Order: sequence, then structure tokens, then C-alpha cells
Amino acid sequence: MAKISVLGAGSWGTALALLLSNNGHEVTLWSVIEQEVEMLKEKREHESKLPGVKLPEDMEITTDLEGCLKDPDVAVLAVPSPFTRSTSHSMAPYVRKGQKIVNVAKGIEEGSFMTLSEIIEQEIPQADVAVLSGPSHAEEVGRGLPTTVCVSARTQETAEYLQGIFMNPVFRVYTTPDILGVELGGSLKNVIALAAGTADGLGYGDNTKAALITRGMAEIARLGVAMGARLETLYGLSGIGDLIVTCASVHSRNRKAGYLMGKGYTMKEAMDEVKMVVEGVYSAKAAKGLSEKYQVEMPIINEVNKVLFEDKAASEAVKDLMLRDKKVENPMLPWEK
Ligand SMILES: NC(=O)c1ccc[n+]([C@@H]2O[C@H](COP(=O)([O-])OP(=O)(O)OC[C@H]3O[C@@H](n4cnc5c(N)ncnc54)[C@H](O)[C@@H]3O)[C@@H](O)[C@H]2O)c1
Repeated sequence: MAKISVLGAGSWGTALALLLSNNGHEVTLWSVIEQEVEMLKEKREHESKLPGVKLPEDMEITTDLEGCLKDPDVAVLAVPSPFTRSTSHSMAPYVRKGQKIVNVAKGIEEGSFMTLSEIIEQEIPQADVAVLSGPSHAEEVGRGLPTTVCVSARTQETAEYLQGIFMNPVFRVYTTPDILGVELGGSLKNVIALAAGTADGLGYGDNTKAALITRGMAEIARLGVAMGARLETLYGLSGIGDLIVTCASVHSRNRKAGYLMGKGYTMKEAMDEVKMVVEGVYSAKAAKGLSEKYQVEMPIINEVNKVLFEDKAASEAVKDLMLRDKKVENPMLPWEK
């Protein structure tokens, strides 16, 4: 049994806190929001973010950051990505050398283009930072539906230790040494999910969805490999696996925000309606910046940026994607001479 603190009590933090508690660990759930902690203590359920999923009475729920970082074996960082830096910064003074911190959020920082593990390592250099990611909606993990994810760390030892901590008969965890690949797959898929949702909102069909997933994956793979990630990771659970679930699922907030934009909402109206952080909007900007930095062609990501930030009509963006110059599907495959 390990002592584990889960930081961030939104949908994912709450679902993982329950999973870890069910695995027999001693779990503390932390939130920066006092009303949220009071509500969770009283109802033992996050009624707005994870309705119907009950937390056990013996799980400690707190706003005391110093207290919950005193002596855990593992700290799970589950705040949405726009808060990863500020939360890591607040954590830093209380984190001991070698403390395992598992980031489970997905995103790339706007401006710096840093991955979340890089941000945590910058803010908390004494920590042993790992990441956990894959096709895993909180609503389904909370209900104990079979789910598979990847965990990656700087050492095999840490990755295997964490695999043992999280794994159970309905939550299967694979290890991988490719942290960058895991993080890029998890964050870039949110941008493609916005496009897939927009296509749904415009009334397009399954052909369009399959095209966006497949060509979106090609863009993610091109950028990922240029940045040093492994193609095998991008075509694994944390890449294509997460891309499929996010583009198809009713639970995906990025797909939902895209759907509303396809129905004519502005980006701001769509974000207000979804009432949660739509991380794809932040990652879209970062992805565009990275595509320019690494000189990688990313037409879907470019069009998503135009729809989000330049008021381009989504239907026009689709038309422009369809009317691009003629291409080969895979430039690596040669014709027989
Ligand atoms: N929900 C899922 O199914 C799921 C699955 C896998 C990964 N993730 C990732 O996990 C991360 C969290 O997602 P979520 O669904 O729990 O989001 P959420 O919107 O439900 O999380 C909101 C929570 O973040 C915390 N918070 C709010 N403002 C904060 C602040 N200023 N500083 C620190 N904490 C603050 C609060 O506890 C709040 O309830 C995201 O990066 C998401 O991509 C989510």
C-alpha cells in the first residue's frame, strides 16, 4: 500500500483518487478551491464533474497543500494544463528530493511550447517526474469500465513502480520510455478533436470524421517525430488510441466545443457552454507555433487556428482543406521504377 496525494479535484483527479483508493492505497485529494473541498467532504461526490461516483468516507479531502506533500510516496498532478505551472510553483517548496510526481493533464504551454513534464521539472527540479496518459474518460474510469493507458518516466524503475500503483483488473497500464511521445499525443489530439467536433456540428458524416482522424494523426506523427518522439508511441494508446476516443466520444469536451462551433457558436460562446477548460484551444496555438518552429506542414491544425482565432467559417476551412494541392498519402513510400 502506498500513500498518494491527488492534486486537482476535477473529473480526472476525482476518478483517479477513487481508482487508487480502490487499489488499497491511502489517498488524499487536494483542491485549491475551498468550496469544492467543502462540497466533496459533505457529499462524497463531485456532483457537477463526476455525478454518481461516490468517494469513500476514509479518503481525506483538503486544501492544505503543504500537508498533502509532506510524505506521500506519489503525488498525482491532475489540475487542467493551464494551471500546471502555477500549481507546480506552489508545490515546489514542499516537495522533497526524488519525490515521484505523475502528471495526468494534457497540454502544451502557450508561448513557451513546453510540455507539462518540462514545466514541472522546471518549477520543481528536485522531483522525479512521470506522465500517465491514454484513452481514459473519467466518466468511464469512475464507473470501473475497462481502460488502458501508458505510464512513462525518466527511469524504467519509476515507470514500473507506477504501473504497479495504478494497475488493476479494469485499468491496464503499459510502460514506455518515450515521455515526449506520450505527452505530444495527449495534447495534440485535443486540437484534432475540435476539428472532428466541428465537422459533426456542420452535419458532416463518418467519412469526414475518419478523414480528420487519419490525416490528423499524420500531422501529429510528422511533428512528433521532428521533435524527437517515437512513431511507435504516437501510433500507440497515448497517440492514436486517445485521438480515436476524443474524436468519437460524447464525453470529450474538446469535441463538444468543436460541435458547438460547427453549429455557429463563437469560440468564446462554445467555451462558456462547455463550462470546463477546453485545452485544445490552448494547444492549437502551441501546435501552430511548433509546426512553424520545426517547419512541419500541419494543414488541419492551421485551419483550426484560423477558425478559432481569425473568425474563419468552419465550412470554409473544410473546403480549403479539400482543395489543397494534390498530394501522395505517404511521401516515404516510393513508386517502383
Ligand atoms: N476528464 C477526463 O476524462 C480526463 C481524462 C484524462 C486526462 N484528463 C486531463 O486531466 C486534466 C484535468 O482534467 P479534468 O477533466 O479533471 O478537468 P476539470 O475541468 O474537471 O478540472 C477542474 C478542477 O481543476 C482544479 N482547479 C481549478 N482551478 C484551478 C487553479 N486555478 N489552480 C489549480 N487547480 C485548479 C479544481 O479542482 C477543479 O475542479 C486535463 O489536463 C485533462 O486533459 C482528463
